[in-house]
Order: sequence, then C-alpha cells, then structure tokens
Amino acid sequence: MQPQDVDAWPVGSVAHLLAISHRGSGQSMEQTPPVVLLQAVQKSFPLDHGRDLQVLDIPHLAIPLGSYTVVQGPSGSGKTTLLNLIAGITIPTSGHIRVSGTDMTALPEPQRDRFRAAHMGYIFQTFNLLAPFTALENVMVAMRFAQAVPKRAQHQRAVALLSRLGLSTRLAHRPAQLSRGEQQRVAIARALANDPPVLLADEPCASLDAATAHVVLVALHSLCRESHKTVLIVAHDTAVLEGADQVLEMRDINRATGRPDGVDRV
Ligand SMILES: Nc1ncnc2c1ncn2[C@@H]1O[C@H](COP(=O)(O)OP(=O)(O)OP(=O)(O)O)[C@@H](O)[C@H]1O
Ligand SMILES: [Mg+2]
Repeated sequence: MQPQDVDAWPVGSVAHLLAISHRGSGQSMEQTPPVVLLQAVQKSFPLDHGRDLQVLDIPHLAIPLGSYTVVQGPSGSGKTTLLNLIAGITIPTSGHIRVSGTDMTALPEPQRDRFRAAHMGYIFQTFNLLAPFTALENVMVAMRFAQAVPKRAQHQRAVALLSRLGLSTRLAHRPAQLSRGEQQRVAIARALANDPPVLLADEPCASLDAATAHVVLVALHSLCRESHKTVLIVAHDTAVLEGADQVLEMRDINRATGRPDGVDRV
C-alpha cells in the first residue's frame, strides 16, 4: 500500500490506525545493523561562571533496525537530551551518532534538518507545534519540507492522519485552540506524516486519557511490528513496556546519571 492510498485503510482497525508504511524490510532483527548507534557520546551544557553541566556520558548505545525500545529514567536524567541528539536537533560535545549509517555529528545544521525530516518522526515532549498554523497546516508543513509524499497526496494524507487520531473536527484549529491532548495528537500525526523509518517519541501519551493513550501505544507498536519501523519511546507508564524488545534504564546506559551534582569544572 502506498502512503497516499488512504482510502484503502481499514476503518476501525487499531492495527491499521496509522498503518501507512511501504518500507517493510522483512529482515530479522539479529541480521540487521543498528539503525541508531551512539559511540562515546558526551553532552554538556554551559552554565554560569564557566562551568559545564554534564548530562550524558554514553559509551555505547545501539538501537536495532525494526526494534521497539523503551527508555526510562527519572526526571532530569537526560532522556529528552538523548532524543534531541539522535534527532540531530543538538550535537554532542564529543562522540559520534549514526542514524541509518549517516554520521549526524558530521552534518551541518541545515543538512541535519533535511535528514531528520526524511528519516525520523519526532513526537516532542513539548509538542513544538507552529502557533500561527492550523492542525492541518502543521502536518502539511512537515510534508512540504521533507518532500517524501507526492505533493498531490499531501492534503488528503494529512486529513486522514488527523482524522484517524480523532481530530477531523479540529483541522482548522490553531494549537492555542486545542486541548493538550489534541495538541499531542497533532504532534503524533506530524511525526508520522512522512512515513519515516525511525520514530522517536518523548512521553507521547503524557497528555492523553487512558483510552486514547492505549490506542496510540498499540498503533506505535503495530507500526514497529507490521511496518518495520524502529520505535524509540521515552515513557514512564508501565503500559508502554508491553511487547518492548528492550527496555533501557538511563542509569545503565548513561554514566553521567547519579554523579554528585553532574557539574564539571572546565
Ligand atoms: N539547554 C540546557 N542548558 C542547561 N541545562 C540543560 C539544558 N537542557 C537540559 N538541561 C539539563 O539537562 C538535564 C536533563 O534534561 P532532560 O530534559 O534531558 O531530562 P529528562 O530526562 O528528559 O527529564 P523529564 O523526565 O523531566 O522530561 C536536566 O537537569 C536539565 O536541567
Ligand atoms: Mg524529557
């Protein structure tokens, strides 16, 4: 099924709620190289008085192609920072991050933006919707930028994605005119718009009621299993752990977690 064939989507099937991929690889996980690979990655943020806050120190992290990985850890342990690095929104202080074989740390920012648009869907913890644009426009802007979906199919696809997420009556609403749960669903639709092979989700159910959260989690899981997406999801709730290939605890992968104050002198 091509992504633009939205009329062919089975209505009411949770497994196909967001089933839009046409990139199934059919390979088993063991045979495939990691789609996300972090090597000796450190990330510090500058503080006042010439000090740095070291947030991440990850010697090695591999996310296998087509896997469903959950990352857990307490508030402030660096989960969002980790996703931002993988997405290429920020770059590490040192080390290398490869996504689908591309060294994100070697790309200048405009190329990282293009690469992210084509290869990764990112459901941000803070949604990051464009305030002046409607729900429909927010999804369509993502497609215009990536040019992964044929132009003639973009409008229909955006409407279909938002409708599948229960927002058919909110297409013309701007973010400020939407509830937090509705904004979160627009953010989810936008992340799926370009049918990316890698999905990053930062607390994607934080603002959703239990029933909607369940639908979203099942949809993300089925995207992984049936459409061979690689899903990396940060979440606190235990429901998200069901069926995960690996559950990563920040304290296990991040040597900066648990240091006395995380602050290093420069
Ligand atoms: N731009 C920045 N400048 C300085 N410190 C930062 C910056 N961004 C993040 N931090 C610090 O890095 C640490 C990790 O932040 P991050 O947002 O990655 O945590 P998190 O695990 O996602 O937390 P939460 O569960 O609350 O979302 C925090 O202590 C935060 O204060
Ligand atoms: Mg966070």
